Amino acid sequence: TPPRTIFSGIQPTGVPHLGNYLGALRQWVTLQDGAPRNTSLVYSLVDLHAITVRQDPKQLRQWKKESLAMLLAIGLDPNKSIIFHQSDVPAHAELMWILSCQASTGYLGRMTQWKDKTANEKDSSEKLKLGLFSYPVLQAADILVHRATHVPVGHDQAQHLEFAREVANGFNHTFGRDVLIPPETMISPARRVMSLRDPMAKMSKSHPDPNSRILLADSEETIRRKIKAAVTDSVDGITYDPEDRPGVSNLIDILYHCDAHPAYPSQDELAKDLAGLSMRALKDRVAETVQTTIKHIRASYAHFLNENDDLDKVAAQGAEKAAKSAATTMKAVKSAVGL
Ligand code: ADP
Ligand code: NA
Repeated sequence: TPPRTIFSGIQPTGVPHLGNYLGALRQWVTLQDGAPRNTSLVYSLVDLHAITVRQDPKQLRQWKKESLAMLLAIGLDPNKSIIFHQSDVPAHAELMWILSCQASTGYLGRMTQWKDKTANEKDSSEKLKLGLFSYPVLQAADILVHRATHVPVGHDQAQHLEFAREVANGFNHTFGRDVLIPPETMISPARRVMSLRDPMAKMSKSHPDPNSRILLADSEETIRRKIKAAVTDSVDGITYDPEDRPGVSNLIDILYHCDAHPAYPSQDELAKDLAGLSMRALKDRVAETVQTTIKHIRASYAHFLNENDDLDKVAAQGAEKAAKSAATTMKAVKSAVGL
């Protein structure tokens, strides 16, 4: 197989939740562990993306540390994967600027996430930040600066990946050489994990209600409490029907995607075996399975979080490797542009 470079990122805006894990992070580890020798893996804590909304500096610093500890806890190995804080490698922001001079504002304005944000924004456009508008350009730079060939992301990111391909092709066309590599999107096979309190919304780090998500660091007791309080419905019996029974179906999805249930070909098949359970029994089963899936992560996380020196070392080594990977691209980009 031809050499591959895999790139992905996560915002260091709190301990990752079960949705991040099942939808993205678990796949990062699978890719790492199954990778042939000629594959490079580059995983970034994208702190520059995190500041598109206001962050408390002390809090953000703590989150960055926790997020790095969590990447190690889920099984990423700094000897196999490049793991780094985005802001430690200035080439990301530098390439973003150069690409900004190529990217069309019309295309960016049509992005679903921007349209959603502007639709929800009650304040005037005076208050909307430029960084929120242009962050897909930074995301494109993140990917392109490492010459990624494959980018594993959730469904919500497919449009941004298309934009990154467009930017790469546009740049190559403008300057008449193949400097940037248009990446392939690897969409996560897992369905989105929904909020436990509002199953019509996705589970998210930024939702104000902490009971809406299960964190990878939650204790067994907390997991049980949150799942017990999950919003479901009062229909008798268990069926899989994401449209009409989003709460119950979300619990079935979680069960289905957790480690204990690889044998079921589909959520429907799993639901058939659960049909006779009470809601309470289903929730007990979900809590048990989630606990089994993440208990080793929680233990490992506690260990890494206490090893401050190790975390600093991992971050420094990751930054050095990532800077090297980016330097090759920046040289070619600057030469093409005339800088
Ligand atoms: P959040 O949206 O919680 O702030 P990020 O934006 O940092 O998380 O996303 C990191 C990764 O996790 C992305 O690949 C994203 O697609 C995935 N992801 C985020 N939330 C979910 C979810 N509820 N279900 C599945 N995948 C998710
Ligand atoms: Na997100």
